[in-house]
Amino acid sequence: MEQGRDVLNLLKTRRSIRKYQPQALSKEQLGAILESGLYAPTGGNHQYSRFIATQNKQILEEINQIVKEEFAKRDLEEGCYQNKTIVKAKKEGYSCLHQAPALIIAVAPREHGNSMADCANGLENMQIAAWSLGIGTCWINQIHWLTENPRMRDFLYQLGMRTDEDAFGSLVAGHPAEKRETPPRKQGRLVII
Ligand SMILES: Cc1cc2nc3c(=O)[nH]c(=O)nc-3n(C[C@H](O)[C@H](O)[C@H](O)COP(=O)(O)O)c2cc1C
Repeated sequence: MEQGRDVLNLLKTRRSIRKYQPQALSKEQLGAILESGLYAPTGGNHQYSRFIATQNKQILEEINQIVKEEFAKRDLEEGCYQNKTIVKAKKEGYSCLHQAPALIIAVAPREHGNSMADCANGLENMQIAAWSLGIGTCWINQIHWLTENPRMRDFLYQLGMRTDEDAFGSLVAGHPAEKRETPPRKQGRLVII
């Protein structure tokens, strides 16, 4: 019961962290977070989803630069959810990775119907596992949005993504440098019969 309460508390208190201390995660911390993702459920237990992790500053910088340049050259489109990124990317100093020390990219076969769900499950496990260790995370969508972009794809191939795979999501992680309150939950999202 105690343990159950602890897990529920973790689920309720986890917040997306967008300010990080500069120090890297230890090998043990990153390893524990990554391992938790491997235990997430996958459709049919196929375990097709894979996770590419790095704390290499040059790689993080290159990914951020690709995102910045590829979004900065786009025009705003009415009603497009990605407009916020386009506006920010045109400004100096944009960092879609929030200057976090660690990045984890979830990749899985493009043609597999459960790839998005499998990747999201793995990344969510990692967000909760990280929080249990006092480590902050934030989902980063820009890499997924550029999964068909030739420049991003080429770079992801260099990092180990296969040609039959897409990047379905990613997380940054690190030691938090901010505290965030839990925003209230919207009403009407539960139907109990
Ligand atoms: C699918 C998805 C995409 C997201 N994309 C981004 C993103 O690109 N950049 C970012 O800073 N946060 C991103 N987030 C984090 C959300 O903004 C965040 O989860 C939401 O505001 C609720 O805050 P909380 O995580 O602290 O509860 C994303 C979250 C999800 C689930």
